[in-house]
Amino acid sequence: MTEPDRRLSVAPMMDWTDSLDRRFLRLITKRTLLYTEMVTAQALLHGNVDSLLGHEEIEAPLALQLGGGEPALLAKAVRIAADRGFAEINLNVGCPSDRVSAGRFGACLMTEPDLVADCVAAMAAASNLPVTVKHRIGVDETDSYADLVRFVGKVAEAGCRSFVVHARKAWLSGLSPKENRSVPPLRYDTVHRLKADFPHLEIVLNGGLLTLDDAIAQIGPVDGAMIGRAAYETPYILAGADARVFGEAGPGPSRQEVVEGLAELAAQVVATGTPLARLTRHALGLFHGCPGAKTWRRMLGEDARLPEWNGPDAPKLIRRAASRVPVELRALAPAA
Ligand SMILES: Cc1cc2nc3c(=O)[nH]c(=O)nc-3n(C[C@H](O)[C@H](O)[C@H](O)COP(=O)(O)O)c2cc1C
Repeated sequence: MTEPDRRLSVAPMMDWTDSLDRRFLRLITKRTLLYTEMVTAQALLHGNVDSLLGHEEIEAPLALQLGGGEPALLAKAVRIAADRGFAEINLNVGCPSDRVSAGRFGACLMTEPDLVADCVAAMAAASNLPVTVKHRIGVDETDSYADLVRFVGKVAEAGCRSFVVHARKAWLSGLSPKENRSVPPLRYDTVHRLKADFPHLEIVLNGGLLTLDDAIAQIGPVDGAMIGRAAYETPYILAGADARVFGEAGPGPSRQEVVEGLAELAAQVVATGTPLARLTRHALGLFHGCPGAKTWRRMLGEDARLPEWNGPDAPKLIRRAASRVPVELRALAPAA
């Protein structure tokens, strides 16, 4: 079992981090660990495995996130996924949605550390892949530091060595999933304390990191940083990651290089009959904050739906949209 490098990762995000998004992100960073959207164990046992787990080699290193709360079902799901090239299997113990809570998985499992431990033990026994857990610092009234320590301690005993901690609690009733990502306050101090109390475990901090500098500042106090919304809304923040986090040579791609890669990707994607907008929706934030960004967003968001761009001319739309951004900005290397 080789462990992926978790110093920097992009969070699992339903409807956002699909295979096309991950292929786009790979134009920006090769080394950052990427996560799939959550796939439920139930779906995997009863649904179309190829479409639920589909990805390209270029997306590696890629972790699969599973949702579920029954050890036997999760073990079966792991066996189905085991030889498909994933670097890790992660269990979702952070999602507070009603649907997920009704299925007795996600964040509500934080009140049942013994069950999560059983899930992790079953998952770990089902393949050679590392099993990790993504969780909150608390849920509802189960939100003391002692509760958190009990949870992590039990789950670690079951064989989990790496924890991704979303540094805020979740309220299971009264707040929507979206509110549960912003209303409960961020408590980085709690995650730092967890690392100090469990120095032998790998602790990755998630929540509210907006820039690569924010993420790098956490590598030290904890072992790694996971960026969610900012990696989607402002993906170019990841351009310096390979150099600055992973020590690769060269500064990382300019936005123009990303545009060229995206144009090539667009040609491949439309050639398979996939609508261009399914790819370009993930790239709307590439020029965030630059002059011309609005036109880029409009062309990639709206024009990309037109039939004329859903054929061999797809790369032309991407290059034309980018040409509205001043060339000197496009050519700039990421900050060192
Ligand atoms: C659109 C969206 C979908 C999400 N889906 C998942 C998911 O499938 N699994 C999960 O563990 N977290 C999910 N999350 C939560 C993120 O992984 C992350 O924990 C959260 O956004 C906090 O990180 P951030 O402040 O960097 O965005 C989702 C977040 C968003 C915005």
